Amino acid sequence: MNNVIEIKGLTKIYSSGLNRQGVKALDNVSFNVPEGIIFSLLGPNGAGKTTLVKALLGIIQAEYEEMNLLGKPITEISIKEKVGYLPENHKFPPYLTGQQLLKFTAELCNYQGNDFKERSEFLLKKVKMLKWKKTKIKTYSKGMLQRLGLAQAVIHNPDLIFLDEPTDGVDPIGRKEIRDFLVELKNEGKTVFINSHLLSEVELISDSIAILNKGKVVYSGSVEALTTSKETYEVEINKKPDDYILYKLKDFNVIETGENKISFKIEREEEINRIMDILRENNFVILGLNRKKSSLEDKFISLVQRTDD
Ligand SMILES: Nc1ncnc2c1ncn2[C@@H]1O[C@H](COP(=O)(O)OP(=O)(O)OP(=O)(O)O)[C@@H](O)[C@H]1O
Ligand SMILES: [Mg+2]
Repeated sequence: MNNVIEIKGLTKIYSSGLNRQGVKALDNVSFNVPEGIIFSLLGPNGAGKTTLVKALLGIIQAEYEEMNLLGKPITEISIKEKVGYLPENHKFPPYLTGQQLLKFTAELCNYQGNDFKERSEFLLKKVKMLKWKKTKIKTYSKGMLQRLGLAQAVIHNPDLIFLDEPTDGVDPIGRKEIRDFLVELKNEGKTVFINSHLLSEVELISDSIAILNKGKVVYSGSVEALTTSKETYEVEINKKPDDYILYKLKDFNVIETGENKISFKIEREEEINRIMDILRENNFVILGLNRKKSSLEDKFISLVQRTDD
């Protein structure tokens, strides 16, 4: 699989008059994003997510060893036509209507398709803004602005789409609709890059994530790999484990017992079979065996706290 985003050694220091040393918003960040996935960059407020996207898009200057988008250096102007962007806290011209904004963006991105009208109506319908297309942006609510922002990010049919907090201010139904739309984009072969701190939302659709804290990447990989523990298993049984069975299992590391379950921390996979055998020999029926999962939120908090210390 091709990488559509390649970042190597990205550092950004904001210098300000007050602080001579400046703020190190990104500290030697490196990671790649393969084509055709939904990728989410997570991190607490001020972690550097927006700065990273702005540096990638050339909106701000930063130091780096290498940065490529769609296989070309970020300084190559032609790639901009294939990239869509929904900025954080965007301020679209308030005097334009929704439809005029889409026209404006399409022209900015040099969109050559002669299907602009159908495409803009299709997208406005998708984001549930069709009936507001002739209304001025200044009258839009926060959620409406965000929906329109999403449509303008993809009007020119880009291959790579950056969305900085796309569901900010959008109600739960709207969020679900936006998620579905992002999955549709992925199914068309597009790559979607999301900046977010809405973990439960990101967890539902992201194929891969990176977690940024204080300008450093503290995790990169799948949500699955982060939240699935390799060593903790939970066995579901037909009755409450009694003292006798716990004595029989004394050679294993039982970490928790419940009404109908026992959880173990294991060192070698073979231990699982031996545990099952002992349970069966003692007239317990095995109803299920699961690897213990922690939520993305728990993992996120512990990772961020660990790197803060
Ligand atoms: N223009 C600027 N001048 C000086 N410092 C800045 C500027 N923009 C951002 N920063 C600082 O850089 C750091 C990273 O900010 P950034 O906006 O990239 O974070 P973020 O991860 O997007 O946060 P949020 O989740 O709140 O959007 C913060 O410490 C912020 O104060
Ligand atoms: Mg931000």
